[in-house]
Amino acid sequence: MSITTPVELEGMQAIGQAVGMALKKMRDYASPGMTTRELDEYGGELLRQLGARSAPKLTYGFPGWTCISVNHQIAHGVPSDHIVLQEGDLVNIDVSAELDGFWADNGGSFVLGCDLHGHSALVDASRQILREALQLIRDSVRIAHVGRFIESEARKRGYTVIRNLVGHGVGRSLHEPPGSIPCYYDRFLRTRFREHAVVAVETFISTGARYAQETADGWTLDTGDSSYVAQHEHTILVTDGQPQILTEANGIWDA
Ligand code: CO
Ligand code: CO
Repeated sequence: MSITTPVELEGMQAIGQAVGMALKKMRDYASPGMTTRELDEYGGELLRQLGARSAPKLTYGFPGWTCISVNHQIAHGVPSDHIVLQEGDLVNIDVSAELDGFWADNGGSFVLGCDLHGHSALVDASRQILREALQLIRDSVRIAHVGRFIESEARKRGYTVIRNLVGHGVGRSLHEPPGSIPCYYDRFLRTRFREHAVVAVETFISTGARYAQETADGWTLDTGDSSYVAQHEHTILVTDGQPQILTEANGIWDA
């Protein structure tokens, strides 16, 4: 959406704060021995308390309140009674929701407890690259320019990026114009960021895989091999200067 009134700005700030708080609290709540279903039920209760409704459930009938993707899973992980979180797991939580007709989306990967498997370099790279990419976004910057930055920063660190998962416009629904915000360089993509636009920008930084693969449950996407992917996502308001990060409450910069 493009924000044109103070009411719209307040609405987006409220849902941005809600999904940000829900993500932060879920990350803090996650612990070894817990199933991803239990973690999701906690997240669902947080959203209810905030008056917000799960975006993937409303939009797609997703079988969970939030998406929780563990280890080789990349995104859209279905909360499960059979996935028990373990110390050292690479965990991604993605929370998107609607409140009073406004929608926001955010996510973040983290290592659960001690980094037994050495995932923290990947997680740190994803977080830092998102942070730097957001600083490039302002009115009239080409969307492809930001994708090129994310891809080249990943490559400098020895990583690849996932090409079939992308950021997107958000605000009045979960996925809106201006369309895809890839984290690779698409030279045919002519669209530009515009002042007042609300967009969800997300990294998908990978130790090998370049495409997310569908799995048997019809929802969860994984690497299809032994590689790992870290994602970080914020919903932002584009301005003529630094963007306003609407989901800043998620605390992913400090996680
Ligand atoms: Co998301
Ligand atoms: Co998103």
